[in-house]
Amino acid sequence: MLTPTTPYTRHLENGLILKSVRDKADAERLALFNGQIFGEGVTGMTRSLIYNHPHTRLEHWLYIEDEATGQIISALSLIPWLWRCEDVLLKSGEMGVVGTLPEYRKRGLIRTLVTRHRELLREGDYDLSNIQGNPYFYRQFGYEYAIPLEANYHLERHNLPDAPGEAAAAFQVRRATPSDIPALMELYDEAAKQLDISAVRDAATWQYQLEGVKGDTESEFWLVIDAQGVTVGYWRIAFHGFGAGLIVCESSRLTVPVAEAVVVKLKALAVERGKPDIRLNLPANSDLIQLGKIWHVHHEGAYAWQIQIVDVARLLRKIAPVLERRIAASPFSGLDEHVIINLYREAFDLHFSHGKLVSVTALGFSERGEINIPPLLLAPLLLGYRSREELSHMYPDVSCWPRAKVLVDVLFPKMESFIYSGY
Ligand SMILES: CC(C)(COP(=O)(O)OP(=O)(O)OC[C@H]1O[C@@H](n2cnc3c(N)ncnc32)[C@H](O)[C@@H]1OP(=O)(O)O)[C@@H](O)C(=O)NCCC(=O)NCCS
Repeated sequence: MLTPTTPYTRHLENGLILKSVRDKADAERLALFNGQIFGEGVTGMTRSLIYNHPHTRLEHWLYIEDEATGQIISALSLIPWLWRCEDVLLKSGEMGVVGTLPEYRKRGLIRTLVTRHRELLREGDYDLSNIQGNPYFYRQFGYEYAIPLEANYHLERHNLPDAPGEAAAAFQVRRATPSDIPALMELYDEAAKQLDISAVRDAATWQYQLEGVKGDTESEFWLVIDAQGVTVGYWRIAFHGFGAGLIVCESSRLTVPVAEAVVVKLKALAVERGKPDIRLNLPANSDLIQLGKIWHVHHEGAYAWQIQIVDVARLLRKIAPVLERRIAASPFSGLDEHVIINLYREAFDLHFSHGKLVSVTALGFSERGEINIPPLLLAPLLLGYRSREELSHMYPDVSCWPRAKVLVDVLFPKMESFIYSGY
C-alpha cells in the first residue's frame, strides 16, 4: 500500500535532480531501474518492498534523474530494521539496492545519494545503518564489517540420513501458512534469545515474509509438528542466494530428534531440486549448526554486515543499561569515573557515577582517552564483533593503558550476533 509522503527534491549540477519516490509511476520506474542494474529478480523485490513491506516508506527510496531524458540514472534506498542488543532496541536503516547506470558511474552520484541517506538516518533517529553489499566500497562512507552475514556451513547430501530414526519419525513436516504466524513468532523469539544482537520481527513483517515477498528475496518456511500436533520447530529456505546449494536461511531451536527430522527433509528437498549440498546460513551457535556436527557440517567462513554508527554519543547513551549491567557484574562494580573513548578526530566522555552511566558528552578533538581507536573500528568493538585485543593486533592505533584495557574489555566484550538478511 502506498502511503503518500512529502516528496524530496534537490537540484544538482549538470541538469541532474535528486528525488524521492512520490507515487506508483515513480515506484515502477525505480523497480525497472533496479532490475536493469541487478537483474529481473530485483524488480520484483523492489516492488514488494515498496508496496507490501509494512515498514518501508516512499520517501526512503531515493534516485537521481537526468532532467534532459527523464531517466533514472542512480538510486539507493533506506530499508528500516528494528534490532535488539540484549534488552535495548536499536533502529537500523539499511542502505539497500545501490546502483548507478554504467555510463554515469564514478561521477559521485552514489556519494550524493549517501548524503541524503545520512540525513534520513539522522531525521529518523536511527542508531545504526547496515549494508550487505560490495566489499570495501562502503568504507568510503563510514561503514565497517561488524555483524556476521551469509554464513557458509555446509552439509553434504551423502552424510545425511534418507529416513528418520525411531524418535525423529514421530514428527511431521509441512510448509507454513499465515495461520502459523503466532507459532513462528514464538519459535523465532525463543531462538533469538541465544543471540546478543538479533532482529525484532513483528506480526506484520511475518505476514509480509509469508505472503508479500516477490523476486530475489522469496523464501519458504517449513514447520516440524509433533505427534500431538504442536509446532516444535521451523526452518526457512531462501530461493535465491550465493552458491549452488539448498540455502537454509533461518532455523528455530531444535532438539536432536527434531533436527534429524529436519535434515532428512533437507536432503529430500536438495535431491528433488537438484541441489548438490545444503548451505546453512545460520548463527554459529544455532542448534542446527551445533547438531550439524553429527552429520559432519563444515564451515567455510562468512561475510559480514557493514555497519555505520549514526550518532556515537546517542548510541552509547542508548546502550547504557547494557554497559551498566556489565560494570555491575565486574570488579569495576560501582565505577565512579570518566571513561573517554577517543576516535582521534573526536572523543566521547562516558561519566559513570556509582556504576551508572550518567552522561555521555561529545568532547570534539581531545588528547585524552582511555581507549584510542580509529572511528571505523568503533562499530566492530561496540557490537562485539571483534575484541579490543583482536583489533589492536591488527591496528597499532587501537591503544589503551593497562588498567583501561581491563575496563574496556568489561564494557565491550565479544557478542553472539546474527541478523538474518531476509526482509
Ligand atoms: C558500485 C556503484 C554503485 C558505484 O556507483 P557510482 O555512482 O560510480 O559511485 P560514486 O561515483 O558515487 O563513487 C563514490 C566513490 O567511490 C569510488 N568508487 C566508485 N566505484 C567503485 C568501486 N566499484 N570500488 C571502489 N570504489 C569505487 C569513486 O571513485 C568515488 O570515490 P571519490 O568520491 O573518492 O572520488 C556502481 O558501480 C554500480 O552500480 N555497480 C553495479 C551494482 C553494484 O555493485 N551495486 C552495489 C551493490 S551493494
